[in-house]
Amino acid sequence: MKGSVFWTFLLHIILFIHGNKAKASQPYRTSYHFQPPKNWMNDPNGPMYYKGVYHLFYQCNPFAAVTGNISWAHSISYNLIDWMHLDNAINPTEPYDINGCWSGSATILPGVKKPVILYTGDNFEHHQVQNLAVPKNMSDPLLREWVKSGRNPVMTPGNGIDPKMYRDPTTAWQGSDKIWRVIIGSQINGHGTAILYKSKDFVKWTRSKDPLHSSNKTGMWECPDFYPVSSRGKKGVDSSFKGGDTKQVLKASFGDHDYYVIGNYDSKMDHYSADVDFMDSIVQLRYDYGMFYASKSFYDSDKKRRILWGWVTEADSKSDDINKG
Ligand code: FRU
Repeated sequence: MKGSVFWTFLLHIILFIHGNKAKASQPYRTSYHFQPPKNWMNDPNGPMYYKGVYHLFYQCNPFAAVTGNISWAHSISYNLIDWMHLDNAINPTEPYDINGCWSGSATILPGVKKPVILYTGDNFEHHQVQNLAVPKNMSDPLLREWVKSGRNPVMTPGNGIDPKMYRDPTTAWQGSDKIWRVIIGSQINGHGTAILYKSKDFVKWTRSKDPLHSSNKTGMWECPDFYPVSSRGKKGVDSSFKGGDTKQVLKASFGDHDYYVIGNYDSKMDHYSADVDFMDSIVQLRYDYGMFYASKSFYDSDKKRRILWGWVTEADSKSDDINKG
């Protein structure tokens, strides 16, 4: 057996035994849903498939079963069922994220095949800013350690943006001009808005004059997502995919639900038009009609599918949550 195959095999066995032990000894844990080993979790963050490993980061409080000290926890899996919990990837340590490392997304840069993370920092003034983090050691197959860019924050709320309504960067996508684009969730003049930014190098971002999309029928958009779907066949496509026969999904989280619209996106003009816009029909498109919020998607390049992760909240009281840990 080759060395790397052996270690992967061993890790599979450890994950399997560990998973079964946890299920048997803790009857109140779910066996199907992903759960952290303990304490609070909310949004899934930066999911990706990278070199044979599925990564899931998520909003967590490392110290308690209630919200607070929001950091990025990190888990990995080879099959999306058995998970291994690693040390936190990103913690609130800098003036630009000292009040919380909030939601964000991963993008795998082509060519160098390097993953990068954009996340929202709640800064020392409780203003929301966008930050960049990269793996510390690219030869670590599990990407355990992440370092924050010395250029942070890479986006700050400018003209007309409420600094308390400016968060949750999406996975970036490249237009045919090779320029990166990303959207940030916001509310401007009372309208749910996806603010558009562009960058050549992921560090220097310029806000576009017009948002990618907005709606006067909704409030603040949290955790937007924006990705192509093939109108032929059932295979998923990467966020930067530029073939014909695609439609584009825009998802926004508001009013406790994940709503989406389907439309056409012209990356030359950066123009998005929804076939039927948010709240414009009697029946709204939602990912799920129960609990499923603040979702993030990623393209699984191994199985050629797009996977959504959503946050399902437990309905327990705060004191029950604390008692259960
Ligand atoms: C959604 C959300 C995001 C924010 C994060 C903070 O549940 O409010 O908008 O980034 O949670 O934990």
